[in-house]
Amino acid sequence: MIRLEALTGHHDRNGFDCGVLPLNLWLQQTALQHQGKGISRTFVAVPADEPAAHAWAQSGYDVEANSILGFYALASAFVLCDDLPAKQAKRFPRQIPVTRLGRLAIRADMQGQGLGRLLLADAVHRARSAAQAVGSAGLFVDAKNAAAARFYQHYGFLPASGQPLKLFFPLG
Ligand SMILES: CC(C)(COP(=O)(O)OP(=O)(O)OC[C@H]1O[C@@H](n2cnc3c(N)ncnc32)[C@H](O)[C@@H]1OP(=O)(O)O)[C@@H](O)C(=O)NCCC(=O)NCCS
Repeated sequence: MIRLEALTGHHDRNGFDCGVLPLNLWLQQTALQHQGKGISRTFVAVPADEPAAHAWAQSGYDVEANSILGFYALASAFVLCDDLPAKQAKRFPRQIPVTRLGRLAIRADMQGQGLGRLLLADAVHRARSAAQAVGSAGLFVDAKNAAAARFYQHYGFLPASGQPLKLFFPLG
């Protein structure tokens, strides 16, 4: 019922609302610009096809075929070992390449239904594939708040020592 694909101008960015204004605005105003400049890549969850969109609408959701149900963005980054969990920091030189999970958000009215898990699994899969071609020690995320950090920890992300909102998922 759901398809994951790269963000394009065809998707309805203005109709997306995850309840966190900076994330909405980033999707609406910045995501495509950054994509065009090669700064980050954004992937969106959309209804798999017209019948899927229709089924969502029948269930009471304001959904059309080009509606964005959730999104995440990936970019390359360098992080200092001070921003890694202590156990990981010992293994690496002072500064290492990582894949930054810049943003992850689900439509407010569809949260708690497993979409976040699906998008996170897709992000890990893409980061792992990319790391085969371009070195990346793991996925790194700056969580927005403690609740978001708990979500990532639920899936094996490890907090940096003394910095619970900086989380790392080793790919090696
Ligand atoms: C955080 C967010 C992406 C989670 O997505 P979601 O679709 O609501 O989460 P899911 O339904 O996929 O939940 C998957 C699992 O994570 C758990 N989970 C979800 N939110 C959690 C939280 N705040 N703390 C701990 N666990 C959490 C669920 O209980 C579920 O566990 P289970 O698989 O064992 O049942 C979503 O709530 C969201 O978009 N929030 C607003 C934007 C935001 O804060 N983004 C993070 C930016 S850093």
